[in-house]
Amino acid sequence: MKKVLILVVSLALTFVAASAQEGQVKLKYSYADLEPYIDSTTMRIHYSAHHAAYATNLVKALESYPDLKSMPLMMLLRNIGTLPQPIQQAVRNNGGGVYNHNLFFDVLTPASKSVMPDELKQIIEKQYGSLEAFKKEMEKAALSRFGSGWAWLLVLPDGKLTITTTANQDAPFMDVALTEGYPIFNIDVWEHAYYLKYRNKRGDYLANLWKVVDWKQVYSNYLRAIGE
Ligand SMILES: [Fe+2]
Repeated sequence: MKKVLILVVSLALTFVAASAQEGQVKLKYSYADLEPYIDSTTMRIHYSAHHAAYATNLVKALESYPDLKSMPLMMLLRNIGTLPQPIQQAVRNNGGGVYNHNLFFDVLTPASKSVMPDELKQIIEKQYGSLEAFKKEMEKAALSRFGSGWAWLLVLPDGKLTITTTANQDAPFMDVALTEGYPIFNIDVWEHAYYLKYRNKRGDYLANLWKVVDWKQVYSNYLRAIGE
């Protein structure tokens, strides 16, 4: 068990270390490629304004802290509670914003490429009974998050899946908002992710989001989490 935990942590650090240094993950698709489920205007503003601002503001917050600047992002976020008071909230908001969006944009893909590997389907069905039941559970969590935040699919140290939510830009592994597990998929439920197209209908946004999930990436994240 201990070995698995250490492996998960070290892999997670490796995975996010690159993001910390490079800021925003590069999109694997164009802004219009997720149409009609996510409109191109939302994608453009979401990536080039919201996400970019989190990355810029994180760099600004760490400007006077060279030691922290060189730390992998996930390590910073894991230790938010111990960071110097003047930058704690800024790193929590903007560092979380960078990490959360890097994962989110990476687990989306054009509808034509949204194919679930059989192996992942079996894992989900084994735990949730059916793919539909899993989606319902995830949507229920995403709808239950009051205000802005995220719904998450995590892999626990024993390899099982679990669903959780966080507020604002908190990530589940932050020491101030801790839920055990390694994130492999998340859903942005901030209004900036859907309001232009879906207005106040978060449920419609969630129902359509399934059409553009990059399940191969989710499965690859799962394998990484369990150390394969
Ligand atoms: Fe967002």
